Amino acid sequence: MLEPIDLAAFPNDFAWGTATSAYQIEGAVAEDGRSPSIWDTFSHRPGTIDNGDHGDEACDHYHRWREDIALMRRLGTNAYRLSVAWPRIVPGGDGAVNAKGLAFYDRLIDGLLEAGIMPSVTLYHWDLPQALQDRGGWPRRETAEHFAAYAAVVAERLGDRVTHWTTLNEPLCSAWIGHLEGVMAPGLTDLTAAVRASYHLLLGHGLAAQAVRAAAPGARVGIVNNLSTVEPATQRPEDIAAARRMDGHTNRWWLDPVHGRGFPADMREVYGVDLPEQRGDAETIAAPLDWLGLNYYFPATVTDDPDGPAPYARQIRREGVPRTGMDWEVDAGGMENLLLRLTEEYGARRLYVTENGSAYPDVMGADGTIEDTGRADYLVQHLAACARAVRKGAPLAGYFAWSLLDNFEWAYGYDKRFGLVHVDYRTQQRTIKGSGHLYADIIRAHRGLEGRAA
Ligand code: FCB
Repeated sequence: MLEPIDLAAFPNDFAWGTATSAYQIEGAVAEDGRSPSIWDTFSHRPGTIDNGDHGDEACDHYHRWREDIALMRRLGTNAYRLSVAWPRIVPGGDGAVNAKGLAFYDRLIDGLLEAGIMPSVTLYHWDLPQALQDRGGWPRRETAEHFAAYAAVVAERLGDRVTHWTTLNEPLCSAWIGHLEGVMAPGLTDLTAAVRASYHLLLGHGLAAQAVRAAAPGARVGIVNNLSTVEPATQRPEDIAAARRMDGHTNRWWLDPVHGRGFPADMREVYGVDLPEQRGDAETIAAPLDWLGLNYYFPATVTDDPDGPAPYARQIRREGVPRTGMDWEVDAGGMENLLLRLTEEYGARRLYVTENGSAYPDVMGADGTIEDTGRADYLVQHLAACARAVRKGAPLAGYFAWSLLDNFEWAYGYDKRFGLVHVDYRTQQRTIKGSGHLYADIIRAHRGLEGRAA
C-alpha cells in the first residue's frame, strides 16, 4: 500500500507542472537558422548514444507545440518548465541574434499563457552552440560572458511575459559528466577542463542572473541542481570519507558558492586544480536567488575508490531495493531529506522540485492504453515525500514532473521513456499514460480541497 499524498500540505497556488528541454523534444535542428549545438555533434559521433539515436527529429515539438500545450491542458497542469535553445537564438554563440529563433519561443510563451500555464524558462539545458565549443567551450571564461549576453537577449524579448527564470540546468552534468566522465557532450575526460568548466558555469549563472534582472525587472531567478543523498557503503573510515567527498562533488560544490560560502576547501584539495578566480567573481556567483530548483532521481551509496577518477568514490549497487528502468534506486525519502537540507542548511526561502520522474519499459495494451503502474507509484511516493517535507517546513512552491513527453534521453537515446505522455516516434502520436491520468486526478483533487481556489 502506498502512503496517500497529504495534498492539504501544498499551498493553494502550488505550481503543478511538467518539464522538458529543447534538444530532447524540439527536433527541427536545422530549421529557421538554428546552428548545431554540442549535443548535435556528440550524438552524431558513432558509439556515443544507444542505438545511434540523436535529436534530429525527437518529438517534433518545434512543429507540434500547439498539440503539446493541449496535452498540458488535459493534464490540468498550471506550469511548464521548458528550455530555450541557445543555438536558435545566437547561432554563432556570440554576436548576431536570430529573429526566427526568438519568434518560436515568443509564440510558445503566448500559447502557454493563453492556456493558463505559467512558463518557467531555463536558459541552458546543455545545448552549447558548437561554435563556442570550437573556441574552447565552458573551460574558457568567455563562454560565461557570452552566456550572459544571450540570456539578456532572451529576457529582453520574453521578460514582459515570463517571470520565472532558470539560468542553468544541472551544471553538475555539464561539468562532471560532460568533461570528466565523457558520457555527455562534449565528451571529454579531463579533470582540469572539468573543474574549469564547473567554475565558468557558475560564473555564467551569476552573470546571467544579473543580465536577466537588468532586462526584466520583475524576473524571479533561480538555478536548478540535481542533488543526491549520499551514504557510505560501510562504516569503514575510508567509506565515510568517500561519502563526504561524493557529497562535495555532487552537492556542496554546486550549492556552497551560490550561497556565498565559496567553493568547498576540501574539494579544491581533492581536485587539485587551480580555479580561474578573478576579483569579484565570488560575489557574482553568490548573487541572491529568488528560489532554488531541485531535480531529484535517486540516492547514492558510495565506497572508497582510490584508483578511480575524482572524487575517488564510487557508487555501489545496493541489492534488494526497488529500481526503475534506468536501474536507478527508488527512494522518495531522499527527496524529502534534500528539500529539508536546502531549507535548514542553505536557508532556502522558496523551493521547486524542477524535475522528478522515472523511466520504465511501457507496454501499450491492445486497446491503446498504457498502464504504467511503476511510474504512477513512483509519482505518488515522491509527491507524498514532498508533502512530508512541506509539513516539516520546506517552502516548496511547485512540482514539475519529468517529463511531459517521452523524449531523447541523452546517452540512452529513445529507449528510456520518462513521459507522462507516450510518444510513438514513427507517427509522432501522443497518448496520455495511466500515470498522466493519475497526475491529472491528483491536481484536480488538490484544487478541489475545501476552501481552495479553482
Ligand atoms: C536529468 C536531466 C533531464 C532528463 C532527466 C532524466 O538529469 O536534466 O534532461 O534527462 O535527467
